[in-house]
Amino acid sequence: MTNQLSEKILKLKKEKNAIILAHLYQIPEVQEIADYVGDSYYLSQVARDAKEDLIIFCGVKFMAESAKVLSPNKTVILPAPNAGCPMADMAEVEDVEEMIKKYPDAFKVCYINSSYEVKALCDASVTSSSALKIMKNIPNKQILFLPDQNLGGYIAEFFPEKEFILWKGFCPTHHRITAEDIIKAKEEHPNVKVLSHPECSKEVRDLSDYIGSTSGIISYATECEDKEFIIATEEGVLHQLKKKNPDKKFYFPEMMVCPNMKKTTLQDVYDALDGKKEEVILDEEIRKKALTSLENMHKLGN
Ligand code: 13P
Ligand code: SF4
Repeated sequence: MTNQLSEKILKLKKEKNAIILAHLYQIPEVQEIADYVGDSYYLSQVARDAKEDLIIFCGVKFMAESAKVLSPNKTVILPAPNAGCPMADMAEVEDVEEMIKKYPDAFKVCYINSSYEVKALCDASVTSSSALKIMKNIPNKQILFLPDQNLGGYIAEFFPEKEFILWKGFCPTHHRITAEDIIKAKEEHPNVKVLSHPECSKEVRDLSDYIGSTSGIISYATECEDKEFIIATEEGVLHQLKKKNPDKKFYFPEMMVCPNMKKTTLQDVYDALDGKKEEVILDEEIRKKALTSLENMHKLGN
């Protein structure tokens, strides 16, 4: 059944001149039918450079919005339109405007996990894989960072000369994992490296051997000679981890699931290609401002 549907998707995709992008937290079946699977930075570049007329973005709302900001002349569809990101929702436009007023000299940096309206208020966007590089290219001393206090805190550790003002947002999925979970996993699997996402708390990061984006974690585990790893990020990464490393073992101290990332089904993807789902529509004035923020991310991150 899944195979039949996958075949129908691939056929319809060609007919519609579409491209399918999937984030690494998507369900395995969706990752398998995608043209490109990756972290949020990589997928934003693929969306920007896509030649096809239609982009089906299997991920969450801020990802599809960013694709539309970068490719306004293409049709962009989020197959599960109610797939949001609770962390992005923690930074509302009015509150961000208030905060900006308080720090008029600050360089405003937003994590890509934010609405395009919030991006429009910021000088540059970042992702977990690009944030350190981008920050090196920002001369300002004072940095307003939103919405993730964990990624912001992680970056701040590398730039003690700068003053970071951190928004108090967090990812409910990554916040759930505790230092105790990691300590227990290390006891159960002695001498096994811990690979974690910077959205984890400082206590978890401090117990980690490697901290990086979803694709960073996968590359590290693939390139490292070790045969076992403790993974502290959303469980969707397991699909590519296993595919690339069939002989290695991966332990998740706590099964971390992002319910929003799991909303996209193969049927949703088919329906999106079949014209049964709404396309992403953005306000043009706000989009142009958000574009500057995303373009600065690509400029400063390369
Ligand atoms: P990545 O940029 O590492 O793919 O992270 C996106 C995300 O939403 C993590 O929760
Ligand atoms: Fe948002 Fe967390 Fe889900 Fe990533 S894992 S999309 S940050 S809620």
